[in-house]
Amino acid sequence: MKIAVLVGSLRSDSYNKFLAENMQKRYQSEHELEILEIGDLPFYNQDDELDPPEVVKNFKRQVADADGVMIITPEYNWSVPGVLKNALDWLSRVDKVLIDKPVMTAGASPTALGTVRAQLHLRQILSAPGVSARVLPPGGNEVLINFASEKFDQSGRLIDESTLEFLDRIMEKFAAWIKK
Ligand SMILES: Cc1cc2nc3c(=O)[nH]c(=O)nc-3n(C[C@H](O)[C@H](O)[C@H](O)COP(=O)(O)O)c2cc1C
Repeated sequence: MKIAVLVGSLRSDSYNKFLAENMQKRYQSEHELEILEIGDLPFYNQDDELDPPEVVKNFKRQVADADGVMIITPEYNWSVPGVLKNALDWLSRVDKVLIDKPVMTAGASPTALGTVRAQLHLRQILSAPGVSARVLPPGGNEVLINFASEKFDQSGRLIDESTLEFLDRIMEKFAAWIKK
């Protein structure tokens, strides 16, 4: 399956980016995970939405062409980072490429709650009328990686075995969710 991945952190040593890269590699024989660049998108401006800059057109096309979308994000101030909200705002307008698109969410934080508040906000955003994504239901499927500094090594490799096994199960469920 072709899965577009949006990462809500632009930081070079981001745990969330590491998570995306670990998943990209771990599932490469079954799925093509493509990490899309959201840091280059301009701020959403309604004046430009009918004929947005090329970078926005390409981004929307990549999301439209994917079988599913994975959103991997940190929590900033109990919510999603602005860079991710900006990307979702672009996707929510005109051709509305997220409507009915299978989506799963995940997040990693060095703190105890593992992005739970951000992901609750994210689920709310994903159900707004212009977004209306088909999000993998939360029961048992919440990827909330807490205490991330203990679960990734210095090079960004995810080394926590139980987290890896959990991700394997989630990927299977997400693939089934996409096929539904
Ligand atoms: C602007 C900002 C706000 C943050 N707010 C929260 C927060 O609300 N909850 C939390 O658990 N961590 C918060 N953090 C800490 C992040 O979880 C931590 O920096 C994390 O490593 C960011 O993700 P990344 O490693 O993918 O860049 C915040 C960090 C920044 C820079």
